[in-house]
Amino acid sequence: MKKIVILFSGNGTNLENIIQKLHDKELLVARAITNNPSAKGIERAKKYGVEVEVIDHKKFPTREAFDEALVRSIEEVDPDLVVLAGFMRILTPVFTQAITNAINIHPSLLPLFKGAKAIERSFESPMKVAGVSVHWVSEELDSGEIIDQACFRKDQKSLEEFEAKIHEIEYDLYPKVILRLLSQEAARRS
Ligand code: GAR
Repeated sequence: MKKIVILFSGNGTNLENIIQKLHDKELLVARAITNNPSAKGIERAKKYGVEVEVIDHKKFPTREAFDEALVRSIEEVDPDLVVLAGFMRILTPVFTQAITNAINIHPSLLPLFKGAKAIERSFESPMKVAGVSVHWVSEELDSGEIIDQACFRKDQKSLEEFEAKIHEIEYDLYPKVILRLLSQEAARRS
């Protein structure tokens, strides 16, 4: 079975969705790694018997030192694909040059609304549509090559409703993209 590693920082609902739909069926979630010792996602992953490693970024003097530890943990597993799901750390070239098969999900139609508070900014914008993007991880934040997107009409009345719609789209799109990439030779390796 193909192996993936999932990186997360907080609530972990995308992590749980991927585990629920794919783990032990279509692929193996060989390890989940978080930078946040109090991330809710830790319990979500453990519920399914998925190994979680906490690499607390606060214990490292620099971003590069943290990224080195992250790369070491990923390389131990040697996954076919690295999946960022709500992983809220800016990555340095130490990561991006070592790990060339990493993808990320971002809650906007990139290249719009890169960075923090994308959901709020997308909701408040005058646009009539919104959506979600999956892209390769590159040195620049939320800027790697786009792999897939899904969009919807913005007819939600509140930010809460809008956010729920974003997550619904994410839970549908991300597992499909992961499976598609794993079935192609192109789970990018150099
Ligand atoms: C998701 O909406 C994901 O797209 C977003 O964080 C949320 C994590 O939720 N990621 C980013 O904004 C990355 N720039 P979750 O922890 O419940 O999966």
